[in-house]
Amino acid sequence: MVRVGFIGAGTVGTALAVRLKGLGYPVVAVYSRTRASAENLASQVDSCQVYDSSQKVADASQLVFVTTPDDFIEWAVKQVQWHPDQAVVHCSGAASTDILEHAHLLGAQVGAFHPLQTFANVAQAIDNIPGSTFALEAESPLLETLQEIAQALEGNWVRLGPGDKVLYHAAAVIACNYAVTLVKLATDLWQTFGVSAPEATRALMPLLRGTVNNIGNVGLPHCLTGPIARGDLGTIKKHLEALRAKAPQLLSTYRELGLQTIPVAQAKGRIDEKRAEEMRFLLAPSP
Ligand SMILES: NC(=O)c1ccc[n+]([C@@H]2O[C@H](COP(=O)([O-])OP(=O)(O)OC[C@H]3O[C@@H](n4cnc5c(N)ncnc54)[C@H](OP(=O)(O)O)[C@@H]3O)[C@@H](O)[C@H]2O)c1
Repeated sequence: MVRVGFIGAGTVGTALAVRLKGLGYPVVAVYSRTRASAENLASQVDSCQVYDSSQKVADASQLVFVTTPDDFIEWAVKQVQWHPDQAVVHCSGAASTDILEHAHLLGAQVGAFHPLQTFANVAQAIDNIPGSTFALEAESPLLETLQEIAQALEGNWVRLGPGDKVLYHAAAVIACNYAVTLVKLATDLWQTFGVSAPEATRALMPLLRGTVNNIGNVGLPHCLTGPIARGDLGTIKKHLEALRAKAPQLLSTYRELGLQTIPVAQAKGRIDEKRAEEMRFLLAPSP
């Protein structure tokens, strides 16, 4: 197995190092901007040595993960004299491999290995990495190495081309980050009837878990429930009136998401075109 090194010992770097070590990969070297971060990673990974430069990590490793924040990846890669027998990989979801051009020009293989997952801290990241989907950008033989790692982590993988990355990442933002925003908006509404945000979040959790389970188990579009799926115009009218009166700042979001939900309801087959048109009229932005 290839000797692995890390430049950047934050959430993803540390969690990936721990998991790769657990899979039997020799994780031999780490450098981070702050020595304490590198020491923290090394303390969780037997035989991993802390170095005082990214060059020393590169010299000790065959496969180097650059797990700095996105804005520093290109800069960090340019600090190193890479060799043709090495591979350099970043974990950014938005950036392509072109930010590794410096390493590519020096003959190293370059790739991207993005865990399509949300990591709030190291412990949670160690738990959540297995079973994730991984977006891979690389050519052979690095591609096969990254596929092996994804499979060993019990994950699926998808291969992306350089032009795919930005919309791939926008999709992740919609599915993950904006889901958080939607829960925040829902908890704001609970405060109009006197329930605090933490209590509201707790109360909504079973509904959220049920929704996620239905998406996974029943699938789109049949997992859609609620007034738009049923074509329930009266209920939608009441929502709009109440929002206009008590939470007008949410009206445009409610309308837009409702409009986006109508085609899902149509695909589910519970509403006909006439009812869909009535709902579109009701939800259209007010002039
Ligand atoms: N968090 C997520 O949910 C998630 C999910 C998928 C992919 N990713 C990707 O994973 C990568 C890392 O993200 P993260 O969440 O792990 O970030 P993070 O927790 O902020 O960790 C980044 C680490 O890099 C170190 N660092 C910063 N600048 C550096 C430099 N110039 N040289 C060396 N080390 C440097 C940091 O500093 P110190 O040494 O001072 O601590 C920190 O330990 C990013 O490309 C991100 O897009 C993140």
